Amino acid sequence: MPIFVISLGGSVVTSNPLDMKFIKEFSEMINSTGKEDKFCIVIGGGKLARSYITALREAGINDNILDEIGINATRMNALSVSPFLRDCNTKIPTTINEAAEMLRIYRCVVMGGTEPGHTTDTVAALLAERVGSKTLINGTSVDGVYERDPKKYPDARKFKALDYNKSIEMAVQGSLGAGPSVFMDVTSLNIARRSAIKIVVIDGKNISQFRDVIAGKAHSGTTIS
Ligand SMILES: Nc1ncnc2c1ncn2[C@@H]1O[C@H](COP(=O)(O)OP(=O)(O)O)[C@@H](O)[C@H]1O
Ligand SMILES: [Mg+2]
Repeated sequence: MPIFVISLGGSVVTSNPLDMKFIKEFSEMINSTGKEDKFCIVIGGGKLARSYITALREAGINDNILDEIGINATRMNALSVSPFLRDCNTKIPTTINEAAEMLRIYRCVVMGGTEPGHTTDTVAALLAERVGSKTLINGTSVDGVYERDPKKYPDARKFKALDYNKSIEMAVQGSLGAGPSVFMDVTSLNIARRSAIKIVVIDGKNISQFRDVIAGKAHSGTTIS
């Protein structure tokens, strides 16, 4: 009974306000995979979170409260996706413990963030560790991990595969300096390394990429292992 954990970037799910076409197609894809497959889907904050956080940050509100605001946005996004998923929770868990319990009941568990200071990628890694999942799929706003941020350096080359140490080194570099930008945060990568959870970074808008990874076929993203 394979368990797949998916970290679905807020930018993938939200538009103004939601990308309903994507949400329906993504859910249909999840609903139609093998009977034995189980899914944990952790959804990010996206535009909703960003608009609140930007406004409040300008007014001097502290980061802990901004993170709480962001977490609430992720939970709204998660609750917006859950009705489209077959055999899925309709109450959004607020802890890893609660999510793991729900996975005993449902085929699919959807959630958002948990605590300030943790990204939803870290929540996904912790949940993968907890439920014994060996594959974490990060569906995000880029189609893989590049040598350097491809949004700033359009000619950067994409990695097909990376090891944990190299990916952590890159994430540390990316999180330093002005306007930090990183494909996944260091904590999520550390959790994956300590429990040998394979991470696959793919273009979150590309449904066929999810289908290929879940089916164990070749994909065009980056595998971190
Ligand atoms: N080396 C890199 N390879 C790929 N993406 C990178 C890299 N460094 C920084 N990034 C940036 O990481 C970001 C990943 O998307 P993110 O902001 O997490 O969106 P989402 O919340 O939808 O997952 C992109 O904006 C991308 O430009
Ligand atoms: Mg992300």
